[in-house]
Amino acid sequence: MNQAAIIERTKSYVRETLEGEGTGHDWWHIQRVLNNAVLIGEKEGADMLVVQLGALLHDIADFKFHGGDETVGPRVAKEWLEQLHVTPSIIERVVHIVKDISFKGANVATPMQTLEGKVVQDADRLDALGAIGIARTFAYGGYRGNELHNPEQAPVMHDTFEAYKNSNGTTINHFYEKLLLLKELMNTSTGKALAEERHRYMEEFLTQFYREWGD
Ligand code: ADP
Ligand code: NI
Repeated sequence: MNQAAIIERTKSYVRETLEGEGTGHDWWHIQRVLNNAVLIGEKEGADMLVVQLGALLHDIADFKFHGGDETVGPRVAKEWLEQLHVTPSIIERVVHIVKDISFKGANVATPMQTLEGKVVQDADRLDALGAIGIARTFAYGGYRGNELHNPEQAPVMHDTFEAYKNSNGTTINHFYEKLLLLKELMNTSTGKALAEERHRYMEEFLTQFYREWGD
């Protein structure tokens, strides 16, 4: 199968699997990540087959929706690509992206080994920022049953992935525990530049939020 066909088949598979998901990990999230990954990847000179497959498959079976099991996503991605007869070395590089992409806590390093991984991680993180990032954060916080805001609860800088995963902090605290940290964690200069405006927008949102709250 040629590269274009592999990508098209994967798109249909991911769309069917994630369509209608209600917490911001849906097909449209994948499409936005794909678009930004292509934009960044082309500027950075990455292997675009690996970038596109990584972007498409990065949330195919997220641990958050599989009882905290981080091995499901990489396994599902691997099995999908194997039955399309994708070259083993490409599969390995894509599976690494799926495995390593996630944020794991403020004090936990999440290095990406390859340029393609850095590109897809940046594209995924851009979708956690700005207006869309804010919308997704409240959608996911609501799904978990977390409070919107509680001025008596301070943010927690998590030292381990376990602590981060099990946290039920407020959604406003998630901005401090993750979202506002992402700008400095962007891997590529293209990603960093795109993150600036979205970061500022979140700061403005928080200022207005506190103004209305009456702090
Ligand atoms: P990553 O893309 O690093 O794997 P996740 O899939 O964990 O990140 O998170 C994607 C988005 O889901 C976050 O950017 C945020 O909007 C939302 N999210 C994740 N965890 C929380 C949380 N504890 N509270 C509110 N929103 C969250
Ligand atoms: Ni994602």
